[in-house]
Amino acid sequence: MAAALLVTVHNSNSFRASSEAYQNPKTKLSSSPSAGNAKSLSFPPRLGPLFWPWEKVKVGPLSVSPMGFGTWAWGNKLLWGYQEEMDGELQETFNLAVRKGINLFDTADSYGTGKLTGQSERLLGKFIREYQGPKKVRDDVVIATKFAAYPWRLTSGQFVKACKSSLERMELEQIGIGQLHWSTANYAPAQESALWDGLVAMYEKGLVRAVGVSNYGPKQLIKIYDYLKSRGVPLCSVQVQFSLLSIGEEQKELKSVCDSLGVQIIAYSPLGLGMLTGKYTSSNLPRGPRGLLFRQILPGLDPLLSTLKGIAVRRGKTMSQVAINWCICKGTIPIPGVKTVEQAEENLGSLGWRLRSDEIDELQYAATNSSTKMIQNIFQTR
Ligand SMILES: NC(=O)c1ccc[n+]([C@@H]2O[C@H](COP(=O)([O-])OP(=O)(O)OC[C@H]3O[C@@H](n4cnc5c(N)ncnc54)[C@H](OP(=O)(O)O)[C@@H]3O)[C@@H](O)[C@H]2O)c1
Repeated sequence: MAAALLVTVHNSNSFRASSEAYQNPKTKLSSSPSAGNAKSLSFPPRLGPLFWPWEKVKVGPLSVSPMGFGTWAWGNKLLWGYQEEMDGELQETFNLAVRKGINLFDTADSYGTGKLTGQSERLLGKFIREYQGPKKVRDDVVIATKFAAYPWRLTSGQFVKACKSSLERMELEQIGIGQLHWSTANYAPAQESALWDGLVAMYEKGLVRAVGVSNYGPKQLIKIYDYLKSRGVPLCSVQVQFSLLSIGEEQKELKSVCDSLGVQIIAYSPLGLGMLTGKYTSSNLPRGPRGLLFRQILPGLDPLLSTLKGIAVRRGKTMSQVAINWCICKGTIPIPGVKTVEQAEENLGSLGWRLRSDEIDELQYAATNSSTKMIQNIFQTR
C-alpha cells in the first residue's frame, strides 16, 4: 500500500540514527584512531578528473558523464521535504556537479508538488543560466526531462505542447533527451500511439536532441523502438528503476535487449530511495510515505546491507558510492537524487574506480538472498 502510494506520488505529482547495524562507513572510519577526518578518508583527493573524456557515455548524438544527478526532490514537499530555502544549496549542488564534469541532469514536467509543479525544471533552467563557469561547460549540460502520460494528453499535438511548456519553464531552446515518462499500454493502449507520435513530432521539430522512454520493459521497448525507427527517429535511452534492490530476470532481460538495440539504460533510484546509503534502519526511518515503505523493506535487507558495508569499508568508500558504482559496472548511467552539496560530493566519489568482479558477484548474491526488494513502479510494462 505504501509502495503504491509512493510510486503514484512519483508519477503524478501534479495530480496532485540509530544506525548501528549499517552505520555508514564514512562515520565508522572516522571513529578509528588512525582514520583522521572521515571525509578525507571517504573522499580522498583524486589527482586528475573523476573520469576521462573517453569514458563519457553515448546517448544517441549526446555524450554524457558516466553518472548523472536526479532532481525529483527539487520542488517536492510531500515526499522529499523540499522548502524554497533549499534553493541556494541546490544551486551550489548543481554548480559543484558541473564543475566536476557531471553534465546529465534528470527531471520531469510532473516534478514538484501542488503549485510547485514544474519547480525542478524551473530550478535547473535557472541554475544553468546562472552558472558562472565557462560557457562551453554550460552549453554541454544535457537535461533529460520526462513528459507525463497524463490522461488528458490525448493527441500528439498536446504532447508537443507539453514539451514546449518544459522549454519555457527552463528557458531553453532545446532539450537534451525528451522522454515519455511512462507507457499507457497497461491501462489505455489507445493513448499510447498518440504519445509516440508526439515524440516523433518533437524530434522532427528539433525541440529535443534525443528521444527516450521510461518505465518500459523489454517487450514494450522493442515495440516502440521499431515504431520510432519506422518514422526515422532513433530511440536512445530507457530510464528504469535499476539498483541492487531491483535485481531480477526483468533487469537482465532489459539489459540484453538494450545491448542488442543500442539503447542506453539510465538507472533511476540507484540508492533505493536512500535505503542503500546505510543511514536508515527500522528505528531510524525518513518521514512521510518513504518511512512507510522503508518499514516494510528494510528488515529483509540485512544480507545486502552488511555486504555493502563490508565492501565499502574494505575499499575505503561509502555504501552509497558502492551502490552507485555497481550500477555503472552493470553498464547503466545511474542518476542518484541529490539534495545537498554533501550528498553530491559523496556521490561523486562513485566515479574514478571500479568494483572487482568478485565484489559484484558478492553484492548480487547478497541482494538475491535478501528477503525483500524494492517494489516496481506501477506503470512499468513488460
Ligand atoms: N522515471 C521514473 O519513473 C523515475 C522514478 C524515480 C526516480 N526517477 C529519477 O531518478 C532520480 C534518482 O532516484 P530517487 O531520487 O528516486 O532515489 P535515489 O537516487 O535512490 O535516492 C535519492 C535520495 O537518497 C538520499 N541520498 C542521496 N545521496 C545520498 C548520500 N550520499 N548519503 C545519504 N543520503 C543520500 C537523498 O534523500 P534523503 O537525504 O532524504 O534521504 C536523496 O534524495 C530521481 O531524482 C529522478 O530524477 C525517475
